[in-house]
Amino acid sequence: MLHSAETLNKKIEETIQNISFDLKPASLYEPMRYVLSHGGKRVRPLMTLLATNLFSGSIEESLKPAIGIEIFHNSTLVHDDLIDNSDMRRGKPAVHKKWDANTAILSGQAMQIESFKYMASVPSDLLPQVMELFSTTAMEVCRGQQLDLDFEKREDVSESEYIEMIMLKTAVLLACSLKLGATMARAQTRDAELLYNYGINMGLAFQLKDDLLDVYGNPETFGKNIGGDIVSNKKTYLLIKALKTSDKEQHAELLKWITAEKFDKEEKIEAVKNIYNALNLKSISENLIEKYYLAALDCLSSINVANERKKELISLSENLMYREK
Ligand code: IPE
Ligand code: IPE
Ligand code: MG
Ligand code: MG
Ligand code: MG
Repeated sequence: MLHSAETLNKKIEETIQNISFDLKPASLYEPMRYVLSHGGKRVRPLMTLLATNLFSGSIEESLKPAIGIEIFHNSTLVHDDLIDNSDMRRGKPAVHKKWDANTAILSGQAMQIESFKYMASVPSDLLPQVMELFSTTAMEVCRGQQLDLDFEKREDVSESEYIEMIMLKTAVLLACSLKLGATMARAQTRDAELLYNYGINMGLAFQLKDDLLDVYGNPETFGKNIGGDIVSNKKTYLLIKALKTSDKEQHAELLKWITAEKFDKEEKIEAVKNIYNALNLKSISENLIEKYYLAALDCLSSINVANERKKELISLSENLMYREK
């Protein structure tokens, strides 16, 4: 049977909304409910189910691990907002703002453990494979997040170091979601690997787009504070490119803002954004996004399945390219 993304999305949402968080203490479970019930695109569990669908596997069987991936993703967001000092997520106060830092640490940890429980519900013959994939991926996300932090303090981060970092913090989880769905459907190894590589390329495009939206997104729809990456000197592709292609004057100005200890946030965002604009970095970045997007579609087209079954994944990829949040 071929399921539409719409039907699968409904199933995902319904399952998440029905998770019970009624255990005690409420101070631990309430933030978990808060984060998980406020939506988000649900891209990763959808990828898992679409991957299962691609190989005609059982959606019912894949649902629990798919939700496990979304719970894990949400745990990384709670910690990421604390680490990044971001006050807003999905248009609502971040957990460390609504409650406090300790609550964000513990509810994030609890969600991580919960995600492993969901993952462990897969049929026992698949368990070793699934746990190996998931725990390796979870560790990679930690490595990527630490690199992201380390890079804040450096001005000489190269493009390839940046790609390595976003591969770890973001792309591997998308790739894992897809491979998980393929594994659940007992797809052939070659096809599962192709789907993983599709996910890596989509993930790189996804994070590049996220970095772009952080500067150029619409504050009404984005759900996060615009300019946060500029404020905290995140070595995004934009900033790395700016440091590399700026003239002497622009370079000095960038360094002035990067090293400033006290500054007006809006003023810094505006000034750095002006340099990005002068260097045409939005469209340079869009070209790179396009490159990874096409590489992703290439992987998908090599998978040994009728084109008809690939339609929903292709349209999801397209939606992610043109997303505004
Ligand atoms: C945000 O992920 C973190 C990144 C990897 C860029 P999403 O953009 O998928 O966040 P939600 O779940 O839709 O809110
Ligand atoms: C986050 O990258 C990646 C993970 C959460 C692992 P960002 O820090 O750019 O994500 P946002 O922009 O806060 O969602
Ligand atoms: Mg962040
Ligand atoms: Mg971050
Ligand atoms: Mg971001």
